[in-house]
Formats: sequence, C-alpha cells, structure tokens
Amino acid sequence: MQVLGIETSCDETGIALYHSEKGLLAHHIFSQVSHEEYGGVVPELASRDHVHKVIPLIQSLLAEKKLNAADIDGIAYTAGPGLAGALLVGATVAKGLAFALGIPAIGVHHLEGHLLAPMLEETKPSFPFLTLLVSGGHTLLIKTTALGEYEILGESLDDAAGEAFDKTAKLLGLPYPGGPHLAVLASKGERHRFKLPRPLIDRGLDFSFSGLKTAVSQLIEKSPRDEKTQADIAAAFEQAVIDTLIVKATRALAITGFNQLVVAGGVGANQHLRQSLTQLAHSQGFQVFYPRPSFCTDNGAMIAYAGCQRLLKGEKSHELQVRARWPLSELRPPL
Ligand code: KG4
Ligand code: ZN
Repeated sequence: MQVLGIETSCDETGIALYHSEKGLLAHHIFSQVSHEEYGGVVPELASRDHVHKVIPLIQSLLAEKKLNAADIDGIAYTAGPGLAGALLVGATVAKGLAFALGIPAIGVHHLEGHLLAPMLEETKPSFPFLTLLVSGGHTLLIKTTALGEYEILGESLDDAAGEAFDKTAKLLGLPYPGGPHLAVLASKGERHRFKLPRPLIDRGLDFSFSGLKTAVSQLIEKSPRDEKTQADIAAAFEQAVIDTLIVKATRALAITGFNQLVVAGGVGANQHLRQSLTQLAHSQGFQVFYPRPSFCTDNGAMIAYAGCQRLLKGEKSHELQVRARWPLSELRPPL
C-alpha cells in the first residue's frame, strides 16, 4: 500500500510517500520563515502558506518518483492537535483528493506520528516501549504498548520542554524558533559556571519548566551581556532541561520494567540530549531509539507512516474533522 502523508499542524508543510513494503519513498518539507519577524507562529499566515505549498509539494513529490496521483492507495493527514486553520488546509486537500481518486483518507494524531517516527529508521524499537515525547507543545512520558495503546505516565504541569527552549532563546535575543539556535550557543558554553534549578527532579514523573524559565530570566537580567556569559547561560539552561528529562525517563523505565526508550519530538533533535542518553543507555543496559533529527521535528513522513499502519487495518476517517485540542490518551487501537 502506497500512502501519501500530509502534515500541516503548525508552520511546516510536510509531504511524504510511504510504501508498506518498500518503506519511505520520498519526503519534502517546507519550513515557513514568515513568522520569524513576529517571534512566533502567526496562525493566519501559517494557514495561507500551507494553501500555497501543499499542492505544489505533492505534485513535485509525485513527479520526482515518476508517479501519478492514481498510484496512491490512501492518504494520511494530520487531524490534530495543532492550529485549527492550518490543520483544515491539509485535511481539506487530503479529503478532496481521496474523494476524487476513490481511495480512503485517514486523520492522524500528530503525537502518534511523532512517537512512531523511529519506525522509519533502520534500527527500530518493538512494542512495548517507553516514549519520551518532547516537542514545542508537549512533554510526555508514554507507556507505549501497541499501535493506539498509549498510557501517559508523566507530563508537563506548565511549559513544554520545547516552549522553555524557545522562551529562553528569546530572552537571550536569539531568532525564532529558538531551540536549535540555543543548542548551538550552548555548545560553545561552559555547563557548570551557573547552576539553574531542576524542578520536581526528586519525585514523580511529571515535569515543570516554568520555574526554570523564571530563574534563567533573572540570571540573564543580572549577568553581563558578553558573548561568553550568554553561551554559559545557554549551556546551564540546556543542561538543566536535559538532566530533568533523563532522570524522569530513567525513573519511568524502572517503573515499567521496559528496556527500550524512544525519544521523539523536536527537542529530540538536540545533540547533547542524544549524546547523554546514548551514553547512559550504554552504561545502564537499556536501548534508546531516535528518529533522524529531521524526523524529530514536524514532517510528513511520520504522518504517512502512522496513517499507513491504520489504513492497513482498514481504518479510515469518514468526516472532515480536525481537532485543535486532542488528548493522546483518547486514541484507540484500530478496530
Ligand atoms: O515537534 P516539533 O517540530 O513541533 C511540535 O509539534 O511542537 O517541535 C518543535 C520544538 C520547538 O520548540 C523547537 O525549538 C524545539 O522543538 N527544537 C529543539 C531543537 N530542535 C527543535 N530544541 C532543542 N534543541 C534542538 N536541537
Ligand atoms: Zn510536532
């Protein structure tokens, strides 16, 4: 089965073709830059950019693979959570195209896409595993038992990890989206010159990052503005987030008894987090799986993959419905 994937939940237009036997055939991503000058995503601009990009991206993907629309067996689109207008663009194109071609379309949960993204890699996990999903909107520890069986063991009580990266980057005067820029600055810094708090680290599986954000903003205010100090603050912040994520993830591994950890979502692209976890996995005897960095952040390949798994089981979406808010715990396995 050949599935076209369409991701338009935020500010990236992601298109991909996934084949159930041959794997990922092709993928394209268009990252909107129009939001940079506003320091954050402007929903209306995001929707308009998706309108301009979705169809040309699908056409160039098909042309690249020398395929026609008639070669597609099913379409997967992100149905939520995300920006309602942006989601509607992808959903409308998917539904319209599927209707015209007489093939099924399926609305995919964006976070299910993220947590299944490592399945696109050569070394992949097998169910059950623990997922640490760290994106711009979510920080979740998920007991992942099967396709559609997701139990949330821990989550952020306030800011998501990616959001904390973005807000701290803004305080440091870095461009939007701040996470990757902050990571570059942190790589030049000294990690232990400043000590920032690691909220809730000594107990439970929930996260809290707003206290860390306040502490870092106070530190920035009272520190000199020289380049070295800025890099040291970035490194101290990055280290505080990484330490917290690692402690909670290893605690959840111990509680579940699982020995496979999946790290997904945009913050999962962070090189220092990946290096630290790989080292720890080695010394503690568990396995850690990541999607390649470009599949940690939003992309169409993960949506095509997740949708394909559900379409193969005969599931499809009858209504054109998107959900800006959609708890992952509401998902069910395909019938
Ligand atoms: O998964 P994603 O692309 O979109 C959402 O579903 O939210 O995640 C985006 C988030 C942003 O907050 C971005 O700053 C962060 O992931 N991010 C990073 C890195 N790359 C992206 N954070 C830290 N280090 C990175 N290398
Ligand atoms: Zn995402």
